Amino acid sequence: MKLRVLSMVLLVVGVDGATVEAPSDLKCYKKSTEFDEDFTCSWKPAASGENSHYTLRFCFISVQISANRCKDIDAGRKTSILVVYENFATAKETYMWVDARMGNYTYSSANFTMILKDQVRYDAPHIKSMSRSSGNLTLYWENPPGEKKTIINEIQFRKRGQQLWQNKTLETQGGHKPEGCTLSIEKDAVYEARVKRRAKNIDIWSAWSKTNKVPIELHKQPAVNWTVGELSEGRRLLKLNWTAPPEAESVGEVTYDISFVITPCQRKAKTAQTSTTKYKINVTASAVNVTIVAINNVGESPKQILTIPAQHLRNCPKDQVEHLKRKKGAKCVEWYELAGDTSTSPVYNKTDKDAIRVLSQMKEGMKDFVRYHYFVHNTRKSPQTIALCPIYKTEGVPKHGPPNLTVVNVTDNSALVSWQPIPITHQQGFLKNYVIYITRGNDTNVVNVSQFQTNYSIQNITPGTLYIVNVAGETAKGVGPNTTREILLNPQQVNTGLPGFGGIIVGLFLLVVLTIFCSFIIKRLKHKLLPEIPTPIITETPVNPLRNDEELYPAGEELHPVVLVHDLHDKSNKSPPPLEESPLLEVRDTSLCEDEGGETQVDSDAFGLIFPLNPDYKRQALSLPAPLELTEHSHEQADCEASTPYRNGLVFELKVGNASDTQL
Ligand SMILES: *[C@@H]1O[C@H](CO)[C@@H](O)[C@H](O)[C@H]1NC(C)=O
Ligand SMILES: *[C@@H]1O[C@H](CO)[C@@H](O)[C@H](O)[C@H]1NC(C)=O
Ligand SMILES: *[C@@H]1O[C@H](CO)[C@@H](O)[C@H](O)[C@H]1NC(C)=O
Ligand SMILES: *[C@@H]1O[C@H](CO)[C@@H](O)[C@H](O)[C@H]1NC(C)=O
Ligand SMILES: *[C@@H]1O[C@H](CO)[C@@H](O)[C@H](O)[C@H]1NC(C)=O
Ligand SMILES: *[C@@H]1O[C@H](CO)[C@@H](O)[C@H](O)[C@H]1NC(C)=O
Ligand SMILES: *[C@@H]1O[C@H](CO)[C@@H](O)[C@H](O)[C@H]1NC(C)=O
Ligand SMILES: *[C@@H]1O[C@H](CO)[C@@H](O)[C@H](O)[C@H]1NC(C)=O
Ligand SMILES: *[C@@H]1O[C@H](CO)[C@@H](O)[C@H](O)[C@H]1NC(C)=O
Ligand SMILES: *[C@@H]1O[C@H](CO)[C@@H](O)[C@H](O)[C@H]1NC(C)=O
Ligand SMILES: *[C@@H]1O[C@H](CO)[C@@H](O)[C@H](O)[C@H]1NC(C)=O
Ligand SMILES: *[C@@H]1O[C@H](CO)[C@@H](O)[C@H](O)[C@H]1NC(C)=O
Repeated sequence: MKLRVLSMVLLVVGVDGATVEAPSDLKCYKKSTEFDEDFTCSWKPAASGENSHYTLRFCFISVQISANRCKDIDAGRKTSILVVYENFATAKETYMWVDARMGNYTYSSANFTMILKDQVRYDAPHIKSMSRSSGNLTLYWENPPGEKKTIINEIQFRKRGQQLWQNKTLETQGGHKPEGCTLSIEKDAVYEARVKRRAKNIDIWSAWSKTNKVPIELHKQPAVNWTVGELSEGRRLLKLNWTAPPEAESVGEVTYDISFVITPCQRKAKTAQTSTTKYKINVTASAVNVTIVAINNVGESPKQILTIPAQHLRNCPKDQVEHLKRKKGAKCVEWYELAGDTSTSPVYNKTDKDAIRVLSQMKEGMKDFVRYHYFVHNTRKSPQTIALCPIYKTEGVPKHGPPNLTVVNVTDNSALVSWQPIPITHQQGFLKNYVIYITRGNDTNVVNVSQFQTNYSIQNITPGTLYIVNVAGETAKGVGPNTTREILLNPQQVNTGLPGFGGIIVGLFLLVVLTIFCSFIIKRLKHKLLPEIPTPIITETPVNPLRNDEELYPAGEELHPVVLVHDLHDKSNKSPPPLEESPLLEVRDTSLCEDEGGETQVDSDAFGLIFPLNPDYKRQALSLPAPLELTEHSHEQADCEASTPYRNGLVFELKVGNASDTQL
């Protein structure tokens, strides 16, 4: 039999030159120095591969018995088998080989001789974690399981791009505690590192660990953008995305840990992990806290904490209680006082099956005139908001009128007033609408606009007239105090408005008349014309706005004198004009009459009111430069006054037209 096998081997060798048919590289190792550790024997398969059938054969020289004893183990098609330590128990030295049988032929590997106690080869270490902090890199891995003796570890590390490894040797004692090794490295460089190990006094190294990439520390928290959708079926879709850290920080791999507090009743934050830079989740209508942290091979970034504001309702849906009654199961009830439009603390929460009972208890503890908001969520894995509602224990009227009432746009016959919404804390009830009182003289016009509106355009107003605008908020309990604003519509405002077609005609006509009339008359009747004109104009014009207001709008008006005085101060004293007044002042500054002397501000105001803008207006309407005669006489008193008749006439025309349209 043996001869035949030999001849076969010779035949094969002779014909194919194929010693490669034999299995090779037979090795047997155990994984620790422990006496009772089993061996793993492995070999490279025979060349013709999968159909081979292997038998491991081994003979050992026994300590007690001088004769060699042999055993074999059938390995089937495998190329690696476990040999339990009892097989070698008494042996010092063993030799072994592996036979591969294919069909009628058998090929044998070379002999492998081993001394049992020296056949220790650890598994390659696995670097479990790394930490890096100001020039120190610490690598952590675990000792070979079951090893109790000393282990020699070799650590190699190098800067990215370098060829040569730096070496460090570390002796560790076996046991279950993980090993750590601190290396000194450059602070801002990317490294790589690996580890291998062997048993002390045995010169068989493990394989290298996987080469770990060592990024630099993550310095910044992720910069997160988010959008949250509208509430739909009790959920809002929250989309988050963020930028990946710089390359040097993300070498290796970066993952992101995200945690969500979706309802205040939830005991543990919901967590998610991703290696992409975006995430989507359904959240409830209540405020949601999101924490995102980036993690690379050497540590964590600072935490990014976001609060996604709650979605509040302005008014309570009608069928809320009925709706809640129909819902089964445990519910999370959450409520808080509204300190502003979005601020939400402190939050009360309670988990209960009977949400209605919780809500009525909640209502007992509420303050009057203060808005609260509650949410009821179900307690599923992905919770849904099943009810939400703003609520008052007792409503009142608004504490104040809307803040910052201003006149933002004045034209010749309209004014746009604008205000800020009354803050929720001042509403003291559900705001139904804003009430606008527009007062001219003894006439007051009242307009209601929606609670969502923050401006109102007053149409068909008369130039040269003082209007007082009051705006107040109204709740079910009534109308609250006003905020007051006055609008003094200066006749000069004609300049900023678009003149009607009729105006152009009149202007054109007057220009022609003036051209003829002035050039003819002025030369001759200059002195006669002068004294007559100013008198009617001045009587018509409020010389001192303060006094004028007081006379026109006595105490019977819903006026707040403080507000008025403040407004007047603004006008007369403060040089940088408020927004709504700047066009008036500009116009006055360019008025021809002002050139006549160094009058005080109040005087020029008075003149500004007296003399309308017709010269400018004419030029605008006709696209002409200033008429010759006007420029000729521009520095003479006569000039202004000579032009007044037609100016005054035009103003009068306008007033008549407007007065008939006026709704006030
Ligand atoms: C193997 O040997 C048997 C008898 O010894 C013979 O019948 C058979 O043909 C042989 N097979 C091959 C593949 O040589
Ligand atoms: C291995 O060695 C043993 C004893 O020295 C010998 O009997 C056996 O034939 C050898 N096997 C091979 C394949 O060389
Ligand atoms: C770096 O390691 C050395 C020695 O292990 C230690 O003395 C030093 O304090 C460490 N530095 C930092 C910043 O941790
Ligand atoms: C580290 O060890 C390797 C072999 O393990 C050697 O080639 C290399 O030169 C050593 N590097 C240093 C810096 O000693
Ligand atoms: C991230 O989200 C914002 C809106 O939140 C969006 O404008 C932007 O395009 C998104 N970026 C990416 C890369 O998806
Ligand atoms: C976040 O939004 C800002 C501004 O809209 C944009 O410049 C930035 O690229 C966005 N970031 C991401 C990750 O889309
Ligand atoms: C969310 O975060 C804010 C501030 O970071 C905190 O005041 C609030 O209690 C948190 N809310 C929840 C539901 O955890
Ligand atoms: C929810 O209520 C419990 C106890 O009532 C409290 O400990 C917890 O802080 C509350 N959660 C929030 C987010 O307020
Ligand atoms: C959010 O909820 C909707 C249904 O309300 C579902 O279609 C969608 O897949 C959910 N999205 C996520 C990210 O869970
Ligand atoms: C009112 O205007 C002032 C200054 O213009 C501003 O500081 C204040 O915040 C405004 N108030 C509101 C409620 O917007
Ligand atoms: C002012 O009103 C005029 C005419 O109504 C309009 O064209 C202009 O855009 C308005 N300006 C502002 C700032 O609202
Ligand atoms: C307003 O009414 C009072 C009396 O009701 C009257 O004396 C006064 O002249 C009126 N003022 C104007 C501008 O009509």
